[in-house]
Amino acid sequence: MKKAGPIAVFDSGYGGLTVLDKIVKHLPEYDYIYLGDNARTPYGTRSFDVVYEYTLQAVEKLFSLGAHLIILACNTASAKALRNIQQKDLPRIDPERRVLGVIRPSVERVNDLSKSKHIGVLGTIGTVQSESYVMEIEKLFPEMTVKQEACPMWVPLVENNEFNDIGSDYFVAKNINRLIQSDEEIDAVILGCTHYPLLLPKIRQYLKNDINVIEQGDIVGESLIDYLERHPEMDEKCSKGGEVKFFTTENVEKFKQTAGIFFEGEISVENIHL
Ligand code: DGL
Repeated sequence: MKKAGPIAVFDSGYGGLTVLDKIVKHLPEYDYIYLGDNARTPYGTRSFDVVYEYTLQAVEKLFSLGAHLIILACNTASAKALRNIQQKDLPRIDPERRVLGVIRPSVERVNDLSKSKHIGVLGTIGTVQSESYVMEIEKLFPEMTVKQEACPMWVPLVENNEFNDIGSDYFVAKNINRLIQSDEEIDAVILGCTHYPLLLPKIRQYLKNDINVIEQGDIVGESLIDYLERHPEMDEKCSKGGEVKFFTTENVEKFKQTAGIFFEGEISVENIHL
């Protein structure tokens, strides 16, 4: 058997650390590597081809670092690159390795969290235009109605540490109001972007209390527990030493300064080229 390796978590930048943070809390015994493509973030405004190319480079790098299992924490990468990588690239690279995304596990929860069957999705322009959430929900729950709203200013607000400030209220209120006006029966809203949990207090302020907000961190953590239980052959290939290492395509000092906003815990980081 091939040597066991860390579980890898990939994001275009810092946002995926909100997902890693929860995964590590759910499964602390495993080893993890996190890769943030901070030098090329954001992915949300990039074309399908570019997001696919960048994500594939990251996947190949993470495999070369010993991972057998990669989670694409980035919704934009999950929306625009995951299917191609699973269907076209994995059979060529190594059919026994796996790449998983965050859209499917989030969609699997909507049925429990919506009574009206009217769902709202908040995401980057790329995620919204890909219609990935709409298609996944349609596949699993064809009776549901889905409305989406792209929030292009939300990622920069978080990346620039402005998410607690009054300036962010304008953009949060604008996008939330537009989503709800598009369908007043919405009673569950998916935060379809890694950065949005940091805006949750503001998001809650502009949403009625009886609307459920679906955050991905815990959902992805729980679905990973379930995946590893159902796939003992993959579980064996995931090393268990409780270590978390970080890689960034940008400057390491910069990464350390900002990563603390997203991830609770020690951050030891190396620079990497894709
Ligand atoms: N991580 C991305 C996502 O979840 C948002 C940041 C970006 O645009 O790169 O969609």
